[in-house]
Amino acid sequence: MSKVHVFDHPLILHKMTILRDKRTGHKEFRELVEELAMLMAYEATRSHPVKEIDVETPLAKARGWTIAGQEIAIVPILRAGLAMESAISRLIPTARVGHVGIWRDPQTLEPHSYYAKLPQDIADREAMVLDPMLATGGSAVACINTLKQHGCRTIRVMAIISAPEGIKKVQDAHPDVEIFTAAVDDYLNDHGYIVPGLGDAGDRLFGTK
Ligand code: PRP
Ligand code: URA
Repeated sequence: MSKVHVFDHPLILHKMTILRDKRTGHKEFRELVEELAMLMAYEATRSHPVKEIDVETPLAKARGWTIAGQEIAIVPILRAGLAMESAISRLIPTARVGHVGIWRDPQTLEPHSYYAKLPQDIADREAMVLDPMLATGGSAVACINTLKQHGCRTIRVMAIISAPEGIKKVQDAHPDVEIFTAAVDDYLNDHGYIVPGLGDAGDRLFGTK
């Protein structure tokens, strides 16, 4: 079964509380999603390989390190994943970005894929799937299916808030995929929303409701 990493860094815990607050407006909400994505990526890349290189300072030669190993592809699920993408792209500027569009039917809660544009060499890259919400898990599983159909073998899911149901769905369908999250909440309500959650991530990010 795939591993689930739940972050408990004090900065993450603090920002998560403001993010959940219904009084937080969409500008601050978007900034918090970006900051949380950056902090989560910082933690999730902790074990990424580095290789030693020399660097010339203005005074002398120094030992340095550069990121090595598999190149990264950042894969936001449209649309809420976009806010996480912009932050992580700043942190890992060598990463390529693949966009996957998935729409969740509000009645059936089934995911519908409508768009996929991935880096040409996605099969050689480690993919970081980004979505603030892992609810039923349908969207994440559909995105992972698309990545695997394109030959991608190393896939991680980064979700700010997860429901136990979504974690189980990803683990059952893709036991090789690791999940990184800042919170595992209590349950899904009858409309497929995570409780307590934060409401509708896309609407709160973009002010569409
Ligand atoms: C939301 C969210 C995830 C999905 C999670 O997107 O951003 O992509 O639901 O739900 P799931 O785990 O049950 O599949 P939504 O479909 O509402 O689209 P949006 O990002 O365009 O608002
Ligand atoms: N999508 C959201 O934006 N929020 C939820 O709680 C579940 C799915």
